[in-house]
Amino acid sequence: MAERFRVVGGSALRGEVQVWGAKNSALKLMAAALLAVGRTRLTNVPAILDVTIMAELLRRLGCTVDYDAAAGVVEIDVPEQIGHRADYDLVRALRASTAVLGPLVARTGSADVAIPGGDAIGSRGLDLHAAGLEALGAQVHVTHGFLVAEAPSGLDGADIRLEFPSVGATENVLTAAVLARGTTRLENAAREPEIVDIAAMLSSMGARITGAGTSVIEIEGVEALAPTEHAVVADRIAAGTWAFAAVATRGDVEVVGGVPEHLAAALELVRASGAEVVTTARGFRVDSGGRRPLAFDVATLPYPGFPTDLQPFALAANAVADGSAMITENLFEARFRTVQELNRLGAETRIDGHHVMVHGVERLSGAPVEASDIRAGAALVIAGLVADGVTTVSGAQHIDRGYAGFAEAMQGLGADVTREPDDVPFV
Ligand code: UD1
Repeated sequence: MAERFRVVGGSALRGEVQVWGAKNSALKLMAAALLAVGRTRLTNVPAILDVTIMAELLRRLGCTVDYDAAAGVVEIDVPEQIGHRADYDLVRALRASTAVLGPLVARTGSADVAIPGGDAIGSRGLDLHAAGLEALGAQVHVTHGFLVAEAPSGLDGADIRLEFPSVGATENVLTAAVLARGTTRLENAAREPEIVDIAAMLSSMGARITGAGTSVIEIEGVEALAPTEHAVVADRIAAGTWAFAAVATRGDVEVVGGVPEHLAAALELVRASGAEVVTTARGFRVDSGGRRPLAFDVATLPYPGFPTDLQPFALAANAVADGSAMITENLFEARFRTVQELNRLGAETRIDGHHVMVHGVERLSGAPVEASDIRAGAALVIAGLVADGVTTVSGAQHIDRGYAGFAEAMQGLGADVTREPDDVPFV
């Protein structure tokens, strides 16, 4: 049954909150497990629906997958013979399913992956993924809604330059090139910590990779890879969510498990808002000193720039900040859905192309709103905390895709956030 979050405004978040492994890494690591026959074990896996969907995809390919969500462990047993098709029902439910493209072509010489289509944050093509695989010698075409990549006699290393440092395309080239003949040099590669994480896992499987985390990655193909055990990198987006939640609510939060080095651009803006950020033994702490945030400008960029996934939180914090801010979205065309919902809560904003001007108000005013995606949903719950009265955020399932136990984590920080069925009238 559809559920929503019910938020009673007024409380500053105080205390500590735990972050787990990154959703955006765990899903790719699960796909990468396909590269080796045998049992790969992943730990620090978050307890979210997306992992369940990726597990189902791997099962349909012939793997045995055990997911112990409470323990944060996924074990994937990959047989000698695997399938090569990712169906539309799964790709539609989980866009990151496209991460099986590289491993499937490399392992089986063929991949049929349904094309995801547009989603709430923009059109998001696969052209760079396809171009990367073509450069490695695969024949790629689109038929009946599937991207089909074929390399019956294997892949060959190549020099590839991505037009844009796409995270997903970098991952698919990497997971294809590890089993290609010869050396691949990937220029203008994405530099996200999740790329470093997948490269570390592949290396522990026997892959030869240098330069992950920089713009140039070199991969020397090997004959075969072996299964491994790997702990998923900390979720920097979840960690950043709590940092901006502390700023917006004038709170004081220790983010246990957060890695401040992965959030340098975001934490610089947290400081610009007037909050203090300190590294602790277990993560980092954001202390607003109980003060209203100062407005701060944001422009999203590929890593190490400010992450687009944190843009809705910067928007929520600026909605109640002292002053005016300009938020610029450079990665996704339609990622301003939060804005209309924030306006329903009394935010003062104006959209102009890929910019939003936000004029901070002292407090927002509670109302029913709707989550359009994971981050927008979580940002609206935070906005509800700085609104008078009650805010309900419909579409709880979106938030569940990115945050394990979001309401419980909020309650642990002193907030009045609960779940309720979405079919009762708003009061
Ligand atoms: C990943 C993250 C997502 C994050 C994004 C950018 C996962 C599951 N998702 O998405 O949360 O917001 O990185 O940090 O890891 N593009 C093309 N053609 C392509 C590939 C990308 O035009 O072939 C465009 C996209 O439409 C988008 C931009 O490039 O405008 C960035 O996309 P990309 O870096 O590939 O993001 P994802 O890997 O999809």
